[in-house]
Amino acid sequence: MARPSSKAVASKAKAKPSAKAPAKAKAVAKPVYVLNGPNLNLLGSREPHIYGSTTLAAIEKQVAARAKSLGLAVICHQSNHEGELIDWIQEARTMGSGVVINAGAYSHTSIAIHDALATLDIPVVEVHISNVYKREAFRHHSMISPVATGVICGLGVVGYDLALEAIKSKL
Ligand code: DQA
Repeated sequence: MARPSSKAVASKAKAKPSAKAPAKAKAVAKPVYVLNGPNLNLLGSREPHIYGSTTLAAIEKQVAARAKSLGLAVICHQSNHEGELIDWIQEARTMGSGVVINAGAYSHTSIAIHDALATLDIPVVEVHISNVYKREAFRHHSMISPVATGVICGLGVVGYDLALEAIKSKL
């Protein structure tokens, strides 16, 4: 009978792991929370000359694909309600590895979102699809920027992908 090659023996050994070998616990990476605020559910049809024609569903698909290529997990949420956004930010304190947030108009007004973000110990990237500094004066101030790690503004929907890359670089 032909002697099995050492390769064949090795692969046989691999196929039968010792019963004593400890099972390796698979580390589950915490997801990056991608949060979108009021009126961003209307992307695609909302003022396309300012925000473009990409829908939120398409952005979330694009973000999930970019995250996968970066080896990150993501959770995407959108709400028109300040409190719901705050609940997700609080969830990210313990469950998340980072936050990407486009808080829409709340960016300019919400002390409560500022305070929630200030509690985080993980990277936070503020995103704006439009260049808010080219627009009305009331958009020039952000309540969120002082508690964000960084801000991406005016680059269109690619800003979400860039935000993920920035988070990855901080982890
Ligand atoms: C926005 C800019 C905000 O001023 C505006 O209220 C939005 C969208 C942006 O993505 O450009 O809703 O955050």
